[in-house]
Amino acid sequence: MAKKGLSILGSTGSIGRQTLEVAGTYPDRYRVVALAAGRNLDVLVQQVRRFCPEMVGVADEATRQEFRSRLPGWSGPILAGEEGLAEAATWPTADLVVTAVVGVVGLKPTLLALQRGKGVALANKETLVAGGDLVMKEVQTRGRQLLPVDSEHSAVFQCLQGQSQRDLARIILTASGGPFHGQESRDLAGVTAEGALAHPNWRMGPKITVDSATLMNKGLEVIEAHHLFGVDYQDIDVVVHRQSIVHSLVEFRDGSVLAQLGWPDMKLPIRYALSYPERLPGDNPSLDLVRVGQLTFETPDRNTFPALALAYRAGQTGGTMPAVLNAANEVAVGFFLAGRLRFLQIADITRRVMDQHIPLTPRTLEDILKVDTWAREEATRLVGVNP
Ligand SMILES: NC(=O)c1ccc[n+]([C@@H]2O[C@H](COP(=O)([O-])OP(=O)(O)OC[C@H]3O[C@@H](n4cnc5c(N)ncnc54)[C@H](OP(=O)(O)O)[C@@H]3O)[C@@H](O)[C@H]2O)c1
Repeated sequence: MAKKGLSILGSTGSIGRQTLEVAGTYPDRYRVVALAAGRNLDVLVQQVRRFCPEMVGVADEATRQEFRSRLPGWSGPILAGEEGLAEAATWPTADLVVTAVVGVVGLKPTLLALQRGKGVALANKETLVAGGDLVMKEVQTRGRQLLPVDSEHSAVFQCLQGQSQRDLARIILTASGGPFHGQESRDLAGVTAEGALAHPNWRMGPKITVDSATLMNKGLEVIEAHHLFGVDYQDIDVVVHRQSIVHSLVEFRDGSVLAQLGWPDMKLPIRYALSYPERLPGDNPSLDLVRVGQLTFETPDRNTFPALALAYRAGQTGGTMPAVLNAANEVAVGFFLAGRLRFLQIADITRRVMDQHIPLTPRTLEDILKVDTWAREEATRLVGVNP
């Protein structure tokens, strides 16, 4: 069997590292042909030594030079910035591109990979939030499948195998509720980045962990699900499920509901995206429902966590509004992590930027990136006005 060539965008991050762990477990099936990362050379250099890719991309010129000095024997191409991501996304021997960078920076390389006829495994939800219509058009035109890596979307995707789209009535996304579940706004006024980064069930990168704490992560996933599965917003529900054992559910028009369950471990959806439609043996202990004991489900608290409603509003408005939601949130989370914005202001800044935006129908990537830049500048200005 020919080995599948993998290109991993964001190889040094939480998803990138776990993807390489999965790939390394099946050396007879996968070979890593391209790696693109940001600035974490301690991890990247080790990955290059172990997986011997054909090309490498890094965030900028300074990192590129540092890489060369750390690995003087490296003879393959090493490209910086957007060029590095673009080259990795279209690398000739890559069969499957795993988009695991964080933020809207994933949109352009994902589109390029699809245009080049590559399979894409998508962890980067911001790509679909900002550019869902363009990305899905490309998926349909090229007849390629966009394989979801996000655990909720992988769950829905798994439940839909062998089913007909016309029988799909509703998607129910589960949410862990994050570290502040059960608290009220007044309890959250003094939340620090450290508190927000203490997720109860998942170990993830800082941006998604803060998004989980505000429930924006679930909001972004609602928009992601709308694009991936072609379901109207009124047919996508969210329930808080503290145990993170049921990864999401699908209801069919006959009233039957299917769910996908498992221990919370991102290697499961990653493995499925890499091997689809096959399933490969995993290394987790079997799910022990008796040990789990209880599976509980609650309505999310939309008053304390207004980001979820903002995301529904952006999705239902459509056009460039989701790109504005995403960009403003990315900026606000960045300021929060830097200690320059309070937790409750993240959703507030995002809402204020959305309030100022008159959405357009984006026809090109440039239309989206223009709006993204405007929303970032506006969010930054608002943070400056209201630090
Ligand atoms: N972590 C999870 O469990 C999880 C689950 C579901 C979905 N996701 C989604 O997957 C994506 C990645 O999440 P994560 O938790 O893995 O994030 P992360 O740990 O912060 O990793 C982000 C990766 O992107 C790279 N990167 C950032 N900016 C870049 C740029 N301009 N050019 C090239 N590379 C860049 C980083 O490089 P350096 O670190 O080298 O700078 C790193 O490799 C997000 O969209 C997230 O929502 C994550």
